[in-house]
Amino acid sequence: MVSILGISAFYHDSAACLVVDGEIVAAAQEERFTRVKHDHSFPLHAARYCLRERALTADSLDYVAFYDKPLLKFDRLLETYLDYAPSGFSSFLKSMPLWMKEKLWMPDLIRTELAKTAGDDDDRAAKKQGKKFQWKLLFGDHHESHAASAFYPSPFEEAAILTIDGVGEWATSSIGVGKGNEITLLKELRFPDSLGLLYSAFTYYTGFKVNSGEYKVMGLAPYGEPKYVPIIKDKLLEIRDDGSLKMNHEFFSYSQGLRMTNGAFARLLGGAPRKPESRITQREMDLARSIQVITEEVMLKMTKYAYKETGMTKLCMAGGVALNCVANGRVLREVPFEDIWIQPAAGDAGGALGIALAIWHRYLGKPRLSPEKTGTWQRGSTSQNNGRSSPLPAYADSMKGSYLGPKHTEGEIEEFLKSRQLPYKKYSREELPAVIASLLASGKIIGLHQGRMEFGPRALGGRSIICDPRSPQMQAAMNLKIKYRESFRPFAPSVLREQVADWFELNADSPYMLLVADVAASRRRNITPEEKTLWGIDKLNVQRSEIPAVTHVDYSARIQTVRREENPLYWDIIEAFGKKTGCPVVVNTSFNVRGEPIVCTPEDSYRCFMRTEMDFLMLETCVS
Ligand SMILES: [Fe+2]
Repeated sequence: MVSILGISAFYHDSAACLVVDGEIVAAAQEERFTRVKHDHSFPLHAARYCLRERALTADSLDYVAFYDKPLLKFDRLLETYLDYAPSGFSSFLKSMPLWMKEKLWMPDLIRTELAKTAGDDDDRAAKKQGKKFQWKLLFGDHHESHAASAFYPSPFEEAAILTIDGVGEWATSSIGVGKGNEITLLKELRFPDSLGLLYSAFTYYTGFKVNSGEYKVMGLAPYGEPKYVPIIKDKLLEIRDDGSLKMNHEFFSYSQGLRMTNGAFARLLGGAPRKPESRITQREMDLARSIQVITEEVMLKMTKYAYKETGMTKLCMAGGVALNCVANGRVLREVPFEDIWIQPAAGDAGGALGIALAIWHRYLGKPRLSPEKTGTWQRGSTSQNNGRSSPLPAYADSMKGSYLGPKHTEGEIEEFLKSRQLPYKKYSREELPAVIASLLASGKIIGLHQGRMEFGPRALGGRSIICDPRSPQMQAAMNLKIKYRESFRPFAPSVLREQVADWFELNADSPYMLLVADVAASRRRNITPEEKTLWGIDKLNVQRSEIPAVTHVDYSARIQTVRREENPLYWDIIEAFGKKTGCPVVVNTSFNVRGEPIVCTPEDSYRCFMRTEMDFLMLETCVS
């Protein structure tokens, strides 16, 4: 048996992943355990959980692998600061102590931290490090880790690979090819030109948090007009035919400092950045739309180029920008790839999974039995297959639906509920779906905690809040009573895979909520002339379809398709709701409140339930 622990840490969203004999056994982000959103510290709790999943101890591991090369990153920082000296000097001084203290001493640090998984305190762990562990410590390359996370778990035997994010060591995006167990990187775009950092610059400028507010910018875009596209193209950057960028760095300050954009950027776009939490105006909506238009253009060019250059018919993607599901939807529709697969933990957390699989397949040379080759997967995404009339082809990547985190047993849950003297009713597994479906149909909002926790930023029916999408009031109610967040953002639907084409302009698997498509024309409602005159956020309250709670102002929806083999209980609940109401769709939003990580344990779920105005809490088969 060969066990490999992959680790990503110290930048954004730390995570650990355990791979045993090539199988992804467990993966989780550190934030879920420490309750610190996007926690970037060493993923001690996540590593401890991963080891527990196979009853391993840190000293029984064969390999520990870190997802990038700290020394290369250090080189990049040093060179960049020297290039831009003296303007970058203050941020150089600020980041230096951390680099000297932690990041450059990575091997010792990793050994010391992993010693703590056995419960040792700092001193004892420090004494042990290096003496006890037999495992080999390896370091990957940032974009190779992303590429590995995109290709190895995918269903494809061979595919083009595209990674796009902010920045790793030097690369900001890369194009490669995966074949069998080999990955070859063909081309990369290098810092400081970066689509991820460009999007982040506009995220900062429109008053949202860099590295987490990008989703809000994407949600805001449909309200705006692409007014700023000409000026962006004229002054800020050049988009080449292969999708690579040449940015004008006179307007950006991320190379030198702690801010993304500078005074010249503000003068060019006519004002200072919006202050976080202040009112959102039409201007921010227009800026959001403009940068989204640019991003889609770049991603379409990059993927078309990858199609041409690699000669591959399938595409795999990872990196933070691959979470831009509006752009992904367009890639699926407009680029001639037959199929695309996107790593659900596309951001840096997924690097832990990528490097662990890269050690197994590339370093150890172990073969990869892709589902496509073994015949357990066939292309299920083309329009000729309507799931209702014919059985669906199997869809088998090796991500296990991304349900790779902790599960809590019925026993643990009942013990918890009893210890807190919380009233609950336990149902049989058979009766539970109909009970939950009835509650949903009567307008109740339900916190759902069942099965293993999801790996990656989306809740997929393991730690979700669900409700009825047909209700015109539901969107506002959920935002105000549960999520406490900006009301412009739409909710996402979970729909039975078999019936997705009846409700949306999509007949493909989208198990990880990474594709956006329109609500089916037959489900839309005509808009009155008065409703047409509304603008900005008022547009949101217009009922546009039979499922208004998940229909965005441009009729789009961020879809999760659910298959019974991936998540039987969730599928059964949606099916029961469909039987009762004729609508096999539920609203699915992550089980958390604004600013907090998604819940992990029954206790987290209960605490979140109590803090909000949710109606019911379902902990496995116990309903409270
Ligand atoms: Fe990255």
